Amino acid sequence: MERYTDYGSLTAQVAALTEGIPYEVANFANASAAIWEAMADINWAGFYKMVDGALVLYPFQGKSACIRIPVGKGVCGTAVAEDKLQLVEDVHQFPGHIACDSASNSEIVIPIHKDGAVWGVLDIDSPCFSRFTEADARGLQQVVDVIEKTL
Ligand code: SME
Repeated sequence: MERYTDYGSLTAQVAALTEGIPYEVANFANASAAIWEAMADINWAGFYKMVDGALVLYPFQGKSACIRIPVGKGVCGTAVAEDKLQLVEDVHQFPGHIACDSASNSEIVIPIHKDGAVWGVLDIDSPCFSRFTEADARGLQQVVDVIEKTL
């Protein structure tokens, strides 16, 4: 299956869906749906938000997922601890990876910021190994930049 995602179009779509909308959960729900529709070969796409010092599940598409992830744990918690995008080609090689869906083999996690601090993360999983490329990382970072403007 063609994996190319038109990130210009996805970014514009997320901007159009969220611009001027004062409902945070609605914005994150629509953003997760837009990402889900735009990307091939993924089995989970959604958000975790920092609540009381840990990541808590926020709107997503895919199978039900773990509700709370401590900072420093798993791929998501590492993205927060390091405040750094995580591009994981094989999650089974990632120390402490949290397997919410046993079908997941690769993952990308991007920190989301508000007022200079990490607000949460965008997390996308794939059943394919090495699904996410540097081009995906750049494109999804653009999407996150738009999402940050809603916060
Ligand atoms: N795999 C993630 C946990 C979240 S699920 O993939 C939705 C991790 O290791 O942080």
